[in-house]
Amino acid sequence: MNAPILLTGCNGQLGFELQTALTALGLPILALNHQTCDLSDHAALRRLLAEHRPSIIVNAAAYTAVDRAETEPELANAVNALAPGILGEAAAAIGALVVHYSTDYVFDGQSAEPYRESDAPNPLNVYGHSKLAGERALQASGAKHLIFRTSWVFGAHGNNFAKTMLRLAAERETLNVVADQYGAPTSAALLAEVTAQILREYLSSETFPFGLYHLTASGATNWHAYAAHVIAAARDFYGNARPSLKLAADGLNAITASAYPLPAARPANSRLDCSLLQRRFGLRLPPWQEGVDRVLQQIL
Ligand SMILES: NC(=O)c1ccc[n+]([C@@H]2O[C@H](COP(=O)([O-])OP(=O)(O)OC[C@H]3O[C@@H](n4cnc5c(N)ncnc54)[C@H](OP(=O)(O)O)[C@@H]3O)[C@@H](O)[C@H]2O)c1
Repeated sequence: MNAPILLTGCNGQLGFELQTALTALGLPILALNHQTCDLSDHAALRRLLAEHRPSIIVNAAAYTAVDRAETEPELANAVNALAPGILGEAAAAIGALVVHYSTDYVFDGQSAEPYRESDAPNPLNVYGHSKLAGERALQASGAKHLIFRTSWVFGAHGNNFAKTMLRLAAERETLNVVADQYGAPTSAALLAEVTAQILREYLSSETFPFGLYHLTASGATNWHAYAAHVIAAARDFYGNARPSLKLAADGLNAITASAYPLPAARPANSRLDCSLLQRRFGLRLPPWQEGVDRVLQQIL
């Protein structure tokens, strides 16, 4: 099989890590960014897929501006809801596999337990609705597919919560952070490594368990405790030598989400149960702190 892996969104947090991780598979990689493969231009997308006839499509591109999606639903839907179906139709026609990523935001967060794949979704915002529609479009396309729902993605490349906390801690003496939303910060590197590992199995096995899986780092935290972890690590790193953090030791205040209203509502419980993926593929997912510490080492 020499047809390429077509990777979309190669400049995003996940796409960037996938460019490295997928090389281990030994197939040519066609890494496309927003400019060279725009998922909102569906005619161009169809032409591109017909031209390259990939063996595997890895869709790391997405409209991820959760709050902006509330006022840009057409664009969010074109990219997140419709494009995965087009990828699926093209893949079904040529026997290709589609790997796609989705989100904890397909759930309303009302459950007290981590969500399983079999739990009913009920998105609270436009982004969540668009991502759920994308999952369904891909599932209905008839293509072989893997959908990984993940949460709270961060990496050394790109913008994310950990980097924002480091920037704000350098600028301010106090910081209010939401403490009543729970989830698992998941590194883009972990997602990319697991994707590559599972694809290796796909390429070498006769039978393969396609489908929808939850994939996050293990454990859970809330945004406030996550921020405290990031800032403690930065303090350790800087030590006394470099007073680069303005934030006082007791300057991190826990607040409720209702005290920090945003355009898009977020689930209070974003925890995903990843036992199905771990069982099916014999994987052990590391604690979220491992990924955060590794990325902080790269950033700091
Ligand atoms: N980030 C999270 O916390 C999170 C949580 C749960 C699930 N996910 C899912 O995980 C996957 C990867 O997310 P990520 O964190 O890597 O996101 P990201 O860093 O925002 O990367 C997304 C990439 O998609 C590109 N993109 C946006 N619109 C596009 C379009 N119309 N056509 C082609 N490319 C387009 C972006 O390019 P530009 O920057 O040029 O627009 C960016 O390079 C996504 O499916 C996302 O929904 C993410």
